[in-house]
Amino acid sequence: QTIYLKDYTPTPYNVAHVALDFTLHPTATRVQSRITFTRVRAEDLVLNGEDLILKSLRVDGAEVPHELSETHLTIPAAHLSDAFTLEVEVEISPQTNTALEGLYMSGGMYCTQCEAEGFRKITYMYDRPDVMAPYEVTIHADTPVQLSNGNPTAPGCWTDPHPKPTYLFALVAGDLVATTDHFTTMEGREVTLNVYVRPGDEDKTDYAMDALKRSMKWEEDVYGRPYDLDVFNIVAVDDFNMGAMENKGLNIFNSKYVLASPETATDTDYAMIEGIVAHEYFHNWTGNRITCRDWFQLCLKEGLTVYRDQQFSADMRSAPVQRIKDVLQLRARQFREDAGPLAHPVRPEAFVEINNFYTATVYEKGAEVIGMLRTLVGPAAYDAALTLYFDRHDGQACTIEDWIQVFEDSTGRDLSQFKRWYAQAGTPHLTVTDDFKNGEYTLHLKQKTKPSAGQPDKAPQVIPIAMGLIGADGAEVLPTQVVEMSEAELTLRYELDAKPIPSLLRGFSAPVILETEQSEADRLVLLAHDTDPFNRWEASTLLAKSNLMANLTAGSAPATAWLDALTKVITDDTLDPAFRALVLALPSEDNLANACDAAGIVPDPTAIHSARKAVHLAIAQHMGEALPALIAATATPGPYSPAANDAAKRSLRAQLLRLQTRLDGGTMARAAYDAATNMTDQLAAFGCLLSAGDTTVAAAFEAQWRTDRLVMDKWFAMSVAEADPDDAVAVATALTQHADFDWKNPNRFRSVIAGMTAMNPAGFHHPSGAGYRFLADWLLKLDALNPQTTARMSTAFETWRRYDVDRQALIQEQLARIATHPGLSRDTAEMVGRMRDA
Ligand code: ARG
Ligand code: ZN
Repeated sequence: QTIYLKDYTPTPYNVAHVALDFTLHPTATRVQSRITFTRVRAEDLVLNGEDLILKSLRVDGAEVPHELSETHLTIPAAHLSDAFTLEVEVEISPQTNTALEGLYMSGGMYCTQCEAEGFRKITYMYDRPDVMAPYEVTIHADTPVQLSNGNPTAPGCWTDPHPKPTYLFALVAGDLVATTDHFTTMEGREVTLNVYVRPGDEDKTDYAMDALKRSMKWEEDVYGRPYDLDVFNIVAVDDFNMGAMENKGLNIFNSKYVLASPETATDTDYAMIEGIVAHEYFHNWTGNRITCRDWFQLCLKEGLTVYRDQQFSADMRSAPVQRIKDVLQLRARQFREDAGPLAHPVRPEAFVEINNFYTATVYEKGAEVIGMLRTLVGPAAYDAALTLYFDRHDGQACTIEDWIQVFEDSTGRDLSQFKRWYAQAGTPHLTVTDDFKNGEYTLHLKQKTKPSAGQPDKAPQVIPIAMGLIGADGAEVLPTQVVEMSEAELTLRYELDAKPIPSLLRGFSAPVILETEQSEADRLVLLAHDTDPFNRWEASTLLAKSNLMANLTAGSAPATAWLDALTKVITDDTLDPAFRALVLALPSEDNLANACDAAGIVPDPTAIHSARKAVHLAIAQHMGEALPALIAATATPGPYSPAANDAAKRSLRAQLLRLQTRLDGGTMARAAYDAATNMTDQLAAFGCLLSAGDTTVAAAFEAQWRTDRLVMDKWFAMSVAEADPDDAVAVATALTQHADFDWKNPNRFRSVIAGMTAMNPAGFHHPSGAGYRFLADWLLKLDALNPQTTARMSTAFETWRRYDVDRQALIQEQLARIATHPGLSRDTAEMVGRMRDA
């Protein structure tokens, strides 16, 4: 059944207060609810409820007639008054809740995940974001710790005064230990901060706590928003479908994004923890205090909160490096989505299962839309608009219209055309041609967005183009200016002495695909001289791509001019090592498959894999003797610090070691592996050794880390990712028979499955079709237990149209097999259906 945005109607009853009383038991938890309602319209009361055993039901103390279905409880209007209290008791079974939605158990502890529609598996309620109420919660359990939202009033008793929708409800009970700290808000409120983990993990909480305190301070300094309760709790759980959840005052995290020690977590893990802790904390204002009217408005909270966590990470680390990493992610995940059968607008208009719309488009493109808005109105006007947004809508459940209205009212701009960014799916292509005649330089720009499912024609969008002009000698002729493109075409003219090199879309000012006729020579000038770090990196990426494509299509060796330029950047120690590492990283195999597709070439994953290896080897040979000294210069002596400076050096070191491994077969990587004192260095060397065919390192790594779940996830993933494409399915299959392959744990499942699909594309797309069968087998197996994670992992198939007819047929066969599987979940059925239709 499809739900449509246009069908939104407010509920006929409001909820004034919710009181919940839990008596926890693994298979027979009792939930007593006391919910007070007030009438808006005299209609039946229809509440959501799934997998509940109803024990008793009273309205104002009396039994009333009611109807139950698989999904709803209905009480006829005739039995309801202007204001009444509904008391219900239900029984639920957290232990057997393998979907990890609602109340479930993870490693012996009780926890919840209610977003988007998990509360309906806890008790009968309006399970939708526009119904907000204060909560009071009592928990009876024999566990040492019991937590819920808001402030504690007695052991096991919690009061949350801030009205909230069901999706922000949370409960945790178990044997947990807290790391405690304090924060004093700008208003003088003393807040107790706790990070709760399982006993034994308490030495891995420092960084999450540090990130939390920095997030709280930054939120006050940059957005003027203080925290609003006396406690803020974070809990780490091992079994979690997503990254983390912003439940009011009680954030629940996938333990992967909380636990860190130098020995077990990489620099990337630390950066992810920092970003996700900030993201969930920032939701307190953008999500919780101001929430969404309905799930179509998901980007209202997610796009804005991702934008804010990206700003935070840019402030904590290097802003240009952060921007490059964000764009790499955007292109790898969102552009891919936008180009395929799963394309949808930032604000979708229809869905079958909302969990399928927690996507890169809603999140990452949603964040880009906020960034464009800020670029268009300017930072000061953005700040003023945000202040108005918080003032006007605090405590409300809002829409994208409300958000746009705030910007229109505070800036006086008409944003009706800008709003198309929320409505049109697909990535706009921006085609640029230029000309120089009689002292006049002309830039001609055209925008066009391809048709996508349900959207045959697209109207022009407002594109902010930050641009500058560089002279042939590398000197900047025109510093950055923002040009606003709103029509399908735009011509820009400049009076100049000589033809410049345009540096367009600086800082990637809009999520579009830029198509230019730029020469390799011009790209080399930009790589060496652009004042915009993003476009310097972009030039290097385009050079890498054209050299890789030349190798792929014509077997050409990489151009010496490019190799020289690359070496120059890598050896320039005035440049941030993190930036140099990004310049050195070749475009991914998936990126190259997409580039083939864009050029009208059917991608051959095997050939792409080989071309990438050949070019990588050529870079290594070109840098040759310089590598050992360069590697030595990236040493980070002294105790491990996760801060940006040292992490930057380690990221460059890892890239250099990869190159060196191509030359020495792993001699230096072996030394690095043996000398490593932190997981970043150890894992980098581990990857090198696996790629070089080392036969002992996998067992050694496993023996060392067997008891650490998060490190073993890395071991599983790397073992498949680094396997030879011809052996990858066999390796992955063997790993699924490993005693520690707990496929019901989403992190472990993803390690092997994504190791096989996303991280080993040539193995996944093996001409035998074994990769496709492997994925389909595991999707079908997991679907019966955990539809959400299954549906998400099915997106490995979303690019099927790019490939040759044989591969297309093999994928279609697996999609058909999944689609016709008896009892397939709604989640997976929707995803597979959309992929097959398009
Ligand atoms: N709101 C959470 C976040 O962005 C994501 C939770 C999504 N969970 C889900 N089951 N759809 O941090
Ligand atoms: Zn979020």
